[in-house]
Amino acid sequence: MLDHSYADVNVDALTPLEAAIELERLAKVIAHHDELYFQKDAPEISDAQYDNLVIRNRKIELRFPELRRNDSPTRRIGAPLASGFRKVKHRIPMLSLENAFSNEDVYEFFNRVRRFLNLQETQEITIVAEPKIDGLSASLHYQNGRLRLGATRGDGSEGEDITENVKTILDIPTVLEGNNVPESLEVRGEVYMCRDDFFALNARRQENGEAEFANPRNAAAGSLRQLDPKVTATRPLRFFAYAFEALSGVELGLHSDILAQLKLWGFIVSPEIRLCHSLSQVIDYYDYIGGRRATLPYDIDGVVYKVNNLEWQRRLGSVGRTPRHSIAHKFEAEKAETIVENIDVQVGRTGVLTPVAWLKPINVGGVMVSRATLHNADEIVRRDVRIGDTVIIQRAGDVIPQVVEVIKAKRSSESQSFVFPEACPSCGSLVEHVPGEVARRCSGGLICAEQVVERLKHFVSRDAFDIEGLGIRNIEAFFADGLIKNPVDIFMLEARDKQSLTPLRCREGWGGQSAQNLFNAINKRRTISLNRFIYALGILQVGSVTAKLLAKHYVSFANLKEQMILAEDPTSEAYHDLLSLDGIGQSTAADLIYFFQEPHNLEIIDKLLREIHIEDFHMEITDNTPLSGKTLVFTGTMQAMSRSEAKATAERLGAKVAGSVSKKTDFVIVGADAGSKAKAAAELGIQVLSEAEWLKVAQGELTKGV
Ligand code: IVH
Repeated sequence: MLDHSYADVNVDALTPLEAAIELERLAKVIAHHDELYFQKDAPEISDAQYDNLVIRNRKIELRFPELRRNDSPTRRIGAPLASGFRKVKHRIPMLSLENAFSNEDVYEFFNRVRRFLNLQETQEITIVAEPKIDGLSASLHYQNGRLRLGATRGDGSEGEDITENVKTILDIPTVLEGNNVPESLEVRGEVYMCRDDFFALNARRQENGEAEFANPRNAAAGSLRQLDPKVTATRPLRFFAYAFEALSGVELGLHSDILAQLKLWGFIVSPEIRLCHSLSQVIDYYDYIGGRRATLPYDIDGVVYKVNNLEWQRRLGSVGRTPRHSIAHKFEAEKAETIVENIDVQVGRTGVLTPVAWLKPINVGGVMVSRATLHNADEIVRRDVRIGDTVIIQRAGDVIPQVVEVIKAKRSSESQSFVFPEACPSCGSLVEHVPGEVARRCSGGLICAEQVVERLKHFVSRDAFDIEGLGIRNIEAFFADGLIKNPVDIFMLEARDKQSLTPLRCREGWGGQSAQNLFNAINKRRTISLNRFIYALGILQVGSVTAKLLAKHYVSFANLKEQMILAEDPTSEAYHDLLSLDGIGQSTAADLIYFFQEPHNLEIIDKLLREIHIEDFHMEITDNTPLSGKTLVFTGTMQAMSRSEAKATAERLGAKVAGSVSKKTDFVIVGADAGSKAKAAAELGIQVLSEAEWLKVAQGELTKGV
């Protein structure tokens, strides 16, 4: 029996022995109150008193992690999930960061921020510099201070419900501390594993004959996505918080305030974070952290810089999937020495041939690498890479490993130069080399199997149709067996399977359930947004940002197609309209028009339209502002806002911004020294706004209801 109770002793004053006794008491007391509350429906203490017990228990465990008991309330877990994780839509998308690879890139980031916000050269831009933890981001939702939902990032718009698993992570409070807890709160941060814990986990797995994890990041990911939270509870996962959004109640002006507030609620914020007041301080921090990289207990792959002023962050907004207010400054890639065993050529979706080195497999910073890109034929010649050579390869983040150096001193007399093929290795068509261009292309077009497969992979990829369970391997296998030869076949798969003598469920590795899951996943994607569809088509130079721009402008697929066909005539209005889009140049326009001229493309699209429904593009933000649906042209120099900010603001208000004045223009906003565009507007009788008038409309609308 316990002689003493330490219930009234401050956590910071407890000795280890006293802490152990107190943890034992708390485990019992909390279990007792849980039973009264959940089983007997007869609580004896208030919610606040109960929360204080939970908070006290966690605080002691954070101070003495080795004393955390197996029956601790922080290890209390729910039942295993029977059928996978539930999907959850993120209320605010989980974006990713743009990368900077050099000090110049960081300098350019500062300049961009300055230009966008129209800041004076002398105006200081305070930056919060944070280590970029190599883990996985997670989103945590709290209602009235209680953890209600934990979700993975997923594709950024939709993640998986991992609530029971995150509850087992000690760094993540299940009940928030402090007295200014908002009613509804979303906290974001990084789940990671310390290197020592990762080694210990692998040693245990090896003893048990289980597969080892390649690196701490994979171990963290594997541990977090366990269907049985009991398993997660045994894994030493940790969490650094780095952001929150409160629906109401907490008004802060600086990112550094956010970090301070997170700590007060009981989160762990990286102790390495620094406030920097100039570019040189930022770079000093980068060098300093880079030097300490090996001594930090966890892996980091760079530093994140964030504009500290939250009003500026809001104004900066985002482009595509990345915010303008932050950037990740990556550390130099990990390098390793190995041997080139062979070189061959890979055919891309657009026919570009990329030489690839097959390497003697080697571990580079925790990841096994057996292939590296050699970029193009000229690069091989310039570097003089030969089969049999000893080379240095590097791997940075998720990018494809590269050969960076040939160690000539180790070259054997048997090394062989690589001769770039004159025929496509996939279809035998002639390889084209346009003088002045580095790329060599297969001229086989639609008959080239490898191009077709690559296009299919693109069609189902994350930003396109995003069909769960139809990844690269399945596309390759289904193509090889003639099941999927073009995008239409994907949507015919189930119907054909029913008639087939060799249905999917009879294939090796497949069963009735997995086949049905795949058909269901395909059926779920029979309705697709216009921008995803345009991207999926894989038109040259049309990435997801351009696809969205086109979707926004043309609104429906029928209209886009009609306009692209009309635009074939360079004197047409359709052609001018296309070129007036800010972000579409002549070369992209040519690729778009060419795509819609190709009869095979039109045939496939017609067949696809019988299988799927393409949603018209909907403006993300209100369509009830005076600017929604209107086309604006900015001209001349703006005083208060940079051109980029004016454009972003107009788009937020539902307007389209064009680069030149046409009959479709609704308003022209003229700054100082407006030239020919103002004149063109006057001639066409288009309404002209001064900068002051524009600001009044924009600011009036943006602050409405705030
Ligand atoms: S801020 C807009 N801060 O890096 C994205 N991210 O490429 C907001 N990460 O998905 C993220 N440490 O998983 C931020 N201190 C940090 C981070 C961090 C690691 C990861 C995170 C995110 C990825 C962005």
